[in-house]
Amino acid sequence: MGNVILIGFMGAGKTTVGFRLSYRLRKPVIDTDKEIERAEQRSIAEIFAAEGEEYFRDSETRCLNRLLEHTSNQIISVGGGLPLREENRKLLHTLGQVIYLRATAETIYERVKHDTARPLLQGDNPLAKIRTMLAARESCYQDAADIVIDVDGKDFEQILCEIEKEIA
Ligand code: S3P
Repeated sequence: MGNVILIGFMGAGKTTVGFRLSYRLRKPVIDTDKEIERAEQRSIAEIFAAEGEEYFRDSETRCLNRLLEHTSNQIISVGGGLPLREENRKLLHTLGQVIYLRATAETIYERVKHDTARPLLQGDNPLAKIRTMLAARESCYQDAADIVIDVDGKDFEQILCEIEKEIA
């Protein structure tokens, strides 16, 4: 379907890379978190608080199925936990080329340490939490990915150049 899909842990840069790639490739960009917030008329934090994580994960699968009906030649950035479901990984492959923005726990921590909008990273010792979650998720990200881009220590310009080379 010709889409370029960005996956990776929270704070890996999916949303920013998505916007910049959209500008450079002159293709529209979609973000699954934003789509879900719009469909639900409430924030991700509110959805987690009121309905719990499983409900949110179901919303992600519904969102992917909607995208499959009408989305081609676009940039799609997806929530960090969306590739955890095998069903979602299959849907991602059908949608297009999947790019995993891979970052270490330390890089992620530096980017999200002041963030209150991500319910899964709140609480004591977020760095330890990031390390544990990242280790548990890595195989899912690898499994979903067609292309892996390491983002540590790189600015957005470098990351975009690497992506453009890979998808050319
Ligand atoms: C989540 C990542 C978030 C959002 C939700 C859950 C996760 O998206 O979908 O808070 O489980 O990793 P970002 O990766 O865009 O922060």
